[in-house]
Amino acid sequence: MGDGTTFPGDFTFGVATAAYQVEGHIENDWSEWERAGKLKDPNHRCGRGVDHWNLFDHDVKLAKDVGCTAFRLSLEWARIEPARGRFDEEAIAAYRARLLRMKEAGIAPVVTLHHFTHPSWFHRETPWHEPSSVEVFRRYAKVCAQILRGLDAMVVTFNEPMVLLLGGYIQGVIPPGITDGKKAMAAIGNIARAHVAAREEILEECAGSRIGTSQNVLVFRPDRWWHPLDRAVTRLASEGYNHAFLRALTEGELRLFMPGLASTKQTIDGGRDSIDFVGLNYYTRAHLKFIPRPPFIAFRYRDVHKRGLTHIGWEDYPEGFSQMIEEAHASYGKPIWITENGIDDRLGTRRPKFLYDHWKQLLAAMKRGADVRGYLYWSLMDNFEWLDGWGPRFGLYYVDFDSLERRPTPACHYFRQVALTRRLFDPSATEAESGAQVAHSALATAG
Ligand code: BGC
Repeated sequence: MGDGTTFPGDFTFGVATAAYQVEGHIENDWSEWERAGKLKDPNHRCGRGVDHWNLFDHDVKLAKDVGCTAFRLSLEWARIEPARGRFDEEAIAAYRARLLRMKEAGIAPVVTLHHFTHPSWFHRETPWHEPSSVEVFRRYAKVCAQILRGLDAMVVTFNEPMVLLLGGYIQGVIPPGITDGKKAMAAIGNIARAHVAAREEILEECAGSRIGTSQNVLVFRPDRWWHPLDRAVTRLASEGYNHAFLRALTEGELRLFMPGLASTKQTIDGGRDSIDFVGLNYYTRAHLKFIPRPPFIAFRYRDVHKRGLTHIGWEDYPEGFSQMIEEAHASYGKPIWITENGIDDRLGTRRPKFLYDHWKQLLAAMKRGADVRGYLYWSLMDNFEWLDGWGPRFGLYYVDFDSLERRPTPACHYFRQVALTRRLFDPSATEAESGAQVAHSALATAG
């Protein structure tokens, strides 16, 4: 439950990362995509990333320094299985050793098996729209399960499958660069089946693991509130984008309708009740407008409250955070983990307020009954932001991309204070005032 100002004692604060965006020196479908000049700035390369592969222990310590007790990272499939059926023992041992050290340092690992990237062979040999993809992912997940043995890690099988689907199979702007509605529908069904297969493998090796997915959720609003067709596409988008995949993993049936593009209704064997928690990635709200040609939906970010769009161009809309949490609570009745939430704030000045506004909404949703267990900030440090390359800065820590030095942004201090005291206070208040607020709410709780 909660009182709206205090996080429960067992609430987890952590950070989230993804292998390709930070580790460096990875050859996979994304590095090929970059070489083909497909990023917004065709000269950008992920390359050495922020060298997290070599600075892992240092970065875990940075997370600890801001009061984190959980760290979400992903395993890079291309490192583990560089050629189909050939598993790299060194990479496997390295991942296991890192996770063991993290655990010893008092940080609970939250491990993503698939965060957008694939080994280079995957799309050529067993792409998602082919049934063989499911068994190939099962075999990879079996190896991941060996890496996770005895660690009691939380597992996210897939990060944002709908983003992969729309970007990779409908719009063709990220790998595998396909624009084919029929293949897209086959692919999303197989991804749901691959989740089920991975879950079986993990439970076999690591009984009792908590397994889920990370769902990117957007608040959708009609661009013209009075227009029936804007309202209709808004309803469709909300159901399809936010819910279809999660319903497949709770009800065992995948239903998706994308007008003018594709639709599907598929049974997902073993899909019913196949997640133990709902992972939500929340960033923003989008306004949708009906357009008279496929895909019939145009979207844009509007600065409705005049807070200023974030640097990447998204609306800063904390109110939507509680809405999405409560919607997930009402729809699935499962424990909720915020597996990502963050802001591209290139000057580092807006982030403390962003955290305050979003935490306030999170606590309000908990007060109204949502069962939220943890909050993982995206991201620990600045990193390689996919199509946007080296522009955006989501990090609690600023990274000098030349020297790779990590430097705390003002949000580090605030994050740490809240994570350690569990009391929310307004960071715009002066130090003295914020101290007084902490004391005041402590007294209020005691009383
Ligand atoms: C993804 C991250 C990404 C972040 C910011 C999420 O959709 O999971 O990989 O960096 O958003 O765009």
